[in-house]
Amino acid sequence: MSGAPGAVVVTERSESAAVTALSRELGVPLTERVGRGIRLTGAGRAAREAAGRPGHVRVSAVTTAGEYVLPPILAAFLRQQRDLQVTIEVGNRADVLAKLLNEQADLALGGRPPVGAAIEGEPFLDNPLVLVGRPDHPLGSRRSFDPRLLSGETWLLREPGSGTRKATEELIAANGVEPGSIMNVGSNGAIKRAVELGLGVTMISQDAVGEELAAGQLALLRARGTPLRRSWYVLSRKDAPLPGSAQLFLAFLRSPATASMRARWSDPSRSLGRAGSESDPRPPFDAGSPANLAW
Ligand code: PGA
Repeated sequence: MSGAPGAVVVTERSESAAVTALSRELGVPLTERVGRGIRLTGAGRAAREAAGRPGHVRVSAVTTAGEYVLPPILAAFLRQQRDLQVTIEVGNRADVLAKLLNEQADLALGGRPPVGAAIEGEPFLDNPLVLVGRPDHPLGSRRSFDPRLLSGETWLLREPGSGTRKATEELIAANGVEPGSIMNVGSNGAIKRAVELGLGVTMISQDAVGEELAAGQLALLRARGTPLRRSWYVLSRKDAPLPGSAQLFLAFLRSPATASMRARWSDPSRSLGRAGSESDPRPPFDAGSPANLAW
């Protein structure tokens, strides 16, 4: 590429000299060394935004949020913000927090408020966790039963490190439930299928099972104390100003648009509603696929 006729060759050395000169002129460092690499400082990121380059939002999300919560929100956001680029990373809680702390993500989505002083979190949506079993589970028709009736069942748990798993373990311990056995299954999709086929019961975000509950593929198990009331949190680093593009996304998460879309994909009574149809004239949230999204 550098040999193409007319190409301007920018060597690493000349580029880094230019950055050093600019940093000196501005009186603030624009880059800093991290191990053997280099990254933008807060001032560097601000300079990038101010330079008018297309904004880029980097979001890191825990698995359930990345699978079920982010896609419809992003689709709507990117239809409003066609000049923005978004990159999504999905991982377990430890990965997600590390990405944020290492400045590899501007914002993160997680299921629990953060611990420690470096990260702040703000709840932006409810995240009820529901107990579910196979469609003909005998407790599916009971209104409010003692969770200990689920002793002896096989409980399907997500992998260690999952927030859903931790909440389930706490529910089991707090209620004196004695599972017949525990089966570790490292994916929400695999867990849903296994429960549907009668392999056991599970606790899972309602966001992940709204469609299956509405379609009767899974039964809601209304044990006392459930659904567990939790929230989805948007997390950010306390010590770094958010780039303008990330601020736009944060504002979108806080807006009523996010809350109203969410009612459609999560609430079992509404998720079979045909958005965009005569009876529900609201536009479907999944219309079209934005080009400015990288996973
Ligand atoms: P998980 O996270 O998908 O990793 O379980 C969700 C949560 O923390 O609620």
